[in-house]
Amino acid sequence: MSTGYELVVVANRLPVDLHVEEDGTTSWSRSPGGLVTALEPVMQASEGAWVGWAGKPDVEAEPFDAGDMHLVPVTLSADEVHDYYEGFSNDTLWPLCHDVISPPEFHRAWWDAYRRVNRRFAEAAAAQAAQGATVWVQDYQLQLVPALLRELRPDLRIGYFHHIPFPPLEIFAQLPWRRQVVEGLLGADLIGFQRPGDASNFIRVVRRLTDLTTRGPSITVPGPAGERQVRAGAFPISIDSSRFDAMARSESVQARAREIRRDLGDPQVLLLGVDRLDYTKGIRHRIKAYGELLEEERLTVPDTALVQVASPSRENVEAYQQLREEVEILVGRINGEHGQIGSAAIYYMHHSYPPEEMAALYLAADVMLVTALRDGMNLVAKEFVAACTDDRGVLVLSEFAGAADELSGALLINPHDIDGMKDAIERAVRMEPREMRRRMRKLRRRVMEDDVTKWSQRFLSTLTAVPRAEGR
Ligand code: G6P
Repeated sequence: MSTGYELVVVANRLPVDLHVEEDGTTSWSRSPGGLVTALEPVMQASEGAWVGWAGKPDVEAEPFDAGDMHLVPVTLSADEVHDYYEGFSNDTLWPLCHDVISPPEFHRAWWDAYRRVNRRFAEAAAAQAAQGATVWVQDYQLQLVPALLRELRPDLRIGYFHHIPFPPLEIFAQLPWRRQVVEGLLGADLIGFQRPGDASNFIRVVRRLTDLTTRGPSITVPGPAGERQVRAGAFPISIDSSRFDAMARSESVQARAREIRRDLGDPQVLLLGVDRLDYTKGIRHRIKAYGELLEEERLTVPDTALVQVASPSRENVEAYQQLREEVEILVGRINGEHGQIGSAAIYYMHHSYPPEEMAALYLAADVMLVTALRDGMNLVAKEFVAACTDDRGVLVLSEFAGAADELSGALLINPHDIDGMKDAIERAVRMEPREMRRRMRKLRRRVMEDDVTKWSQRFLSTLTAVPRAEGR
């Protein structure tokens, strides 16, 4: 049996980046994602282990300690990266969970790889967990892990959190392996979602695709140790708000924010978009709206500039390659029509940046554009708010992002309604300082209060409170 960690996190990625040098030697560096920050204090307090993939194919590495965390790499072959990660996770489940914006592909070989890899993650987690430990499985890449893990280790308390939207039954039902996925999730004691609507979509799917009894958010699941109650609920994720607040207050970030504005030619209005280059983010819709505002001279260059950071993502998946082409053509066209020597209409960056640079960009911006067509939460919106320490800045936010449930001080938009989005952008640009401050203070109260530590505490304490089956 296990050597014994009291809390085991299982996620597709490890919270570190692997570097392979030219001579073949490898090293790790910390990759400070939101989830790591959230879970670090809990992990430190409770002897935590993290099971995940190193992000590159065929890396065989022994478990190792990084700070207070024990990291357990799971190896994926190049074929598995293709079929499980790029294929089933990001070309089947991802579009299925995001309103089929891009058509999901259904391939049996991808499903076989997904099952095989999920079993490998479940076995690795089972080998790390102490008797009666808590295992917290993260996200859509690992939906079969809860049930596989329960089979291997019925003594464990198992939680699962779905970071992306859970689709309506009518869309989920397209998945040829829909029942197996639901059964995989039902291995958990607690299934967390971003929005109440995601949780109710899931309950409806359970009612229609299984014979199980549901009562409000509870599902009764029979098993060898007696009946279990599985709970589904909304636990909206957040960010390390005080970290972004502190960065934005630091002299170096403030100086960098001034420098960014100066380098852009001190525009009166700086618009900002920050996204993974993903078709769910509404980047094309946003740029189209901006282009029309320039066309109609409701905004002009060089008084206005748009900085669009589009960080590279899932570059081997065709839908992402196609999106990149489309966005880059559009950016080129608008810059060609409206840019001048020394002042572009759009500054487009296909890079990712460290958090300090992001904080400086947020601080420098006047208007933040979050125009997702569908998004589980959208943490960029919350980061922007946490970095606006001077109460200056307007958030234009899609109602299709989970963050819209909480961030009522934003200007909410429907990104499919280009005219409505244009009006909202113009309103944001011309907003009176008093209204801007009132809205930003409201946003900041919410984001500073509900941070990611609260999120993990709420999830884990709810998980601990779920009654256990008789006989365990
Ligand atoms: C979303 C998903 C995460 C995923 C991240 C980056 O936020 O919910 O599970 O890790 O995108 O995508 P990648 O494919 O690079 O891990």
